[in-house]
Amino acid sequence: MRKKRPNEIRTKKKRLRGKWIALEILMICVGLALLTVAVLNAGWISTASPVPPPETTTESSTAATTTEEPTTTEPETTTQPPLDIDGLRDKKLVALTFDDSPQRTQTTRLLDFLKEQDVRVTFFMVGVNVKDAPEIVRRAAAEGHQVASHTYNHKDLTKLGPERLAQEIGDTAALIEELTGARPTAMRPPYGAQNAAVQAAAGTPLILWSIDPKDWSTRDADKSYSRVLANVRDGDIVLLHDLYRESVDAAERIIPALKEQGYTFVTVDQLLAARGGAKPGDVVFNRPRG
Ligand code: NI
Repeated sequence: MRKKRPNEIRTKKKRLRGKWIALEILMICVGLALLTVAVLNAGWISTASPVPPPETTTESSTAATTTEEPTTTEPETTTQPPLDIDGLRDKKLVALTFDDSPQRTQTTRLLDFLKEQDVRVTFFMVGVNVKDAPEIVRRAAAEGHQVASHTYNHKDLTKLGPERLAQEIGDTAALIEELTGARPTAMRPPYGAQNAAVQAAAGTPLILWSIDPKDWSTRDADKSYSRVLANVRDGDIVLLHDLYRESVDAAERIIPALKEQGYTFVTVDQLLAARGGAKPGDVVFNRPRG
């Protein structure tokens, strides 16, 4: 083996030093890149990408917005359209109502369609479902729909003792108020089952219905559509259920068809305000012109 000459050793050392410097530069670049990603994720620097609407908020995006409520892009208070009650009085009115919601997929679909159509409806929501999808409840209220109570557990209220009855109504009202900032002003007893005890405990008018296309049992959009269209009259309260795809399909056809017939869509509150009002405990089926 030949001995290495000193200048050969020096060149090797130089090459080694060059490699170290390259490695250091690489490490600094990686470090900077990681830091940038961290800063962007923490939201310290605002990016050009728009804030996703609350209905599309998923587990992945909630991680990045831990300090933010998913609905900060929308007003906290209920923004029902201004009531021109005198203007409504002589119009052909119909109140579409949707029971048992919210159901994340179908209620979101329905809300998107209602927004597109500029139509307000009334939701009779069930407490246990509200707990599951609070952002949908906030959205419905923020978009001017009436969020009303369909009790907490969807029990037949006429079969409950006074304490359970008060709980079913009171807990739902409190939950809706917590989410929307407004206590519900209407209650629909499950199955339409009510008696003097339910009327006394309600604290709001009891809203039943005058048109029931039985959408929940047929699960047939065609039937629901034609039953509503064949029977609807001024002042009707139409019962539908936004738990089911077929019911939302039907609503997507009912609304344009009724618009064509000259109907104005109102919430239950608007219908009552335009047609004589109602007291707590009153049972309301419809409100045709006096
Ligand atoms: Ni129901």
